Amino acid sequence: MSKVFYLTPEPAGADAAAGNRASEVVASGQGAYTGTVEGPVLDARRRPLHDLRISVTDRCNFRCTYCMPREVFGADYEFMPHASLLSFEEITRVASVAVQLGVRKIRLTGGEPLLRKDIQKLVAMLAALRAPDGQPIDLTLTTNGTLLARKAQALKDAGLRRVTVSLDALDDTLFERMSDSRVSVSTVLAGIEEAGRVGLAPVKVNMVVRKGLNDQQIVPMATHFRHSGHVLRFIEYMDVGSTNGWNLQEVLTGAAILERIGEHYQLEPVKSQYRGEVAGRYRYVDGAGEIGLITSVSQPFCGDCTRARLSPEGKLFMCLFANMGHDIRELLRNGGTDQQLAHRMAGIWQVRNDNYSEQRGKETTQRQKIEMSYIGG
Ligand code: GTP
Ligand code: 5AD
Ligand code: SF4
Ligand code: SF4
Repeated sequence: MSKVFYLTPEPAGADAAAGNRASEVVASGQGAYTGTVEGPVLDARRRPLHDLRISVTDRCNFRCTYCMPREVFGADYEFMPHASLLSFEEITRVASVAVQLGVRKIRLTGGEPLLRKDIQKLVAMLAALRAPDGQPIDLTLTTNGTLLARKAQALKDAGLRRVTVSLDALDDTLFERMSDSRVSVSTVLAGIEEAGRVGLAPVKVNMVVRKGLNDQQIVPMATHFRHSGHVLRFIEYMDVGSTNGWNLQEVLTGAAILERIGEHYQLEPVKSQYRGEVAGRYRYVDGAGEIGLITSVSQPFCGDCTRARLSPEGKLFMCLFANMGHDIRELLRNGGTDQQLAHRMAGIWQVRNDNYSEQRGKETTQRQKIEMSYIGG
């Protein structure tokens, strides 16, 4: 790819209350720019573009009540037709331009990414990407684990580095209720073990905690994953999407979760590895391993948010809570050059001003937002 030059926005006079407004201006082609520069692309809050989360499908074989409630995502729900999804070649092209703009970590998400046919082929294409200094990209995937035992080896062989698996309970009845599926916990645990065995490690396990529903599973989950080499992360229940009827009363804060585990095991904080790390890290003092806390509600981390999200049909979203995305597919399918793509993507990033979790309140939680099952968390 030829050298990329991109444009700087007007001085980063980030108006905290502006939310998505600046992005909307650029989407409609009215962005005011001055000058040209080369180097890491920064947004209006001076956050560099570092992570690209790529959702490869809006389908899932679970119907987690907090993400794809069956009343909304039932038998007659219309998922995206295959023709509108980005092809693997198109995804790889966007990813390759994103790497030129500073991306060093790529995560495949969904829906359930392992439902996308031949996903290991996409993994192989992305694994071949190199940063300008020749280094490979940190390539990972978030899955519900149902198909993982079967696919872990092929994913590893294709060049995937590690995986994150969602698991909200060890109790089968509760798990079936939360995922609204007939899949047993042992299937997911087998996927986690196989991923560890083939070297997709460290495996991270995400548990969304809903007060009054699965909070009694916090300590059993912690106990189960001690000494396993896997990293269990507790996620505060968030107001993503518009279908889960989120309520602040159902949020158990990271501090409360830590306190519950602390009644059984002694923990100490671990320094974060890099700017923008989502999870706060803690380790068991007795050497049994590490856990993480993702506290997007009680302690938002927007100040260091370096993530862009690509939807299955080629829209770039600047925030998990955004209500609109920026179409990239049109440029991809109508002969746009890599240079044009780079300008478009850099332009979108440079005026990004989002900080939803820092503004969360009654007005914001009620506004229309994209669904988690479509943009992948
Ligand atoms: P690693 O720790 O490097 O593996 O990545 P990660 O923590 O970014 O990955 P993961 O997909 O496991 O993220 C965990 C969860 O944190 C997601 O599923 C979301 O629920 C939440 N999360 C991730 N990124 C964001 C973000 O930018 N904003 C908010 N509010 N939540 C996020
Ligand atoms: N709040 C917090 N986490 C959520 N996830 C899905 N919906 C929510 C929500 N409302 C989690 C999934 C998965 C990751 C992609 O995001 O359980 O681990
Ligand atoms: Fe559950 Fe993840 Fe599927 Fe949503 S995408 S229904 S959180 S498994
Ligand atoms: Fe980033 Fe939006 Fe999450 Fe804040 S709420 S951390 S801006 S994705």
